[in-house]
Amino acid sequence: MAKVISFIIQKGGCGKTTTTANAAGYLSLHGFKVLAVDMDPQGNLSQHMGYDTEKLEKTILNLFERTAAINQVVLKRSELLHVLPNNLHTAAAEFSLQKSMSPNYLLRDALAPVLNDYDYIFIDCPPALGLFSINALAASTEFVLVVSPEFFPMKAIKPLYDTYRMVKEKMNHTLQFNGIVMTMCDFRTRHSQEVFDILKKNFPHKLYNAYIRNNVSLKEASSYGQTIFEYNSQSFGAFDYQNFAEEFIRNHHKNIAKREYYQQKFESLTSGEQKQIVMFAEQNLSAYARSGLDKMNDSTVLKEALVIERNKVLEKLFPYRLNTIFDQVS
Ligand SMILES: Nc1ncnc2c1ncn2[C@@H]1O[C@H](COP(=O)(O)OP(=O)(O)O)[C@@H](O)[C@H]1O
Ligand SMILES: [Mg+2]
Repeated sequence: MAKVISFIIQKGGCGKTTTTANAAGYLSLHGFKVLAVDMDPQGNLSQHMGYDTEKLEKTILNLFERTAAINQVVLKRSELLHVLPNNLHTAAAEFSLQKSMSPNYLLRDALAPVLNDYDYIFIDCPPALGLFSINALAASTEFVLVVSPEFFPMKAIKPLYDTYRMVKEKMNHTLQFNGIVMTMCDFRTRHSQEVFDILKKNFPHKLYNAYIRNNVSLKEASSYGQTIFEYNSQSFGAFDYQNFAEEFIRNHHKNIAKREYYQQKFESLTSGEQKQIVMFAEQNLSAYARSGLDKMNDSTVLKEALVIERNKVLEKLFPYRLNTIFDQVS
């Protein structure tokens, strides 16, 4: 059964779409089967995934209006990364959708037939707490707040938290608050650090250690219709989204098994071999994060990033086959 995650905040320009696209891209490259759902009629996620939203034959609106089946609408970007696209026609239909039988469950009902086909369903929410965001929360098992230091986050989080409580109470009792990820950080400015500290203080167990810095490659990748791992896998953006995605799946049982496998492999090596592998991982890490590493100055993130790099080296020596849902159905 897929975990269904909404990436949400009721303000535009915070990095929701970028986070949804790149986290989905990363996980699909690492053996998880992912459906990326564009719940914003602006269609930014569909565009980020490389689709021309004006030329779509079918969109998520066909599902809401029950004029197509989900397998007729889903676009197979790759074997493991599928996209449910959206465009402006859905915005025009919002008023009439409000009057349908159960307007808050349009997305939940649309996704019901494919819940067993994916490991993750990621929903990119629009920048408002209206019908489409409520639908996203009603269909989700969890949600992640995407916060940029552009604005004072606690002010925005309060109404969002009230919406979460309302949805949880009235529509979706099992909905969970997964966490908060900070995007577009620049820790050379005091403001980013202040916002990070406020979030850490108020949500000590919810704020992701990984954070996403300002990186122009992320913007470029989106304008080329590519994920950052396709566009520039050596950029800070790729490094940061790798850290976030790995932290996000830390407790996923498949990932736990994989990490344990590599930990055991590592421990079974001689100390000389271990040293060599760690040295290799350190070299990769510093080449990867380049000068950004000095500024990052964050031991938690760096320590974790080194384990990720070490496991990548080990992966070349001892390939690990992740058993995806896809393997079971094909
Ligand atoms: N970390 C980042 N560094 C630089 N530009 C970014 C970053 N994250 C997002 N952007 C750019 O900022 C704009 C808004 O991001 P987006 O993900 O679309 O936000 P939202 O979905 O919350 O409206 C986009 O042009 C995107 O390419
Ligand atoms: Mg967006």
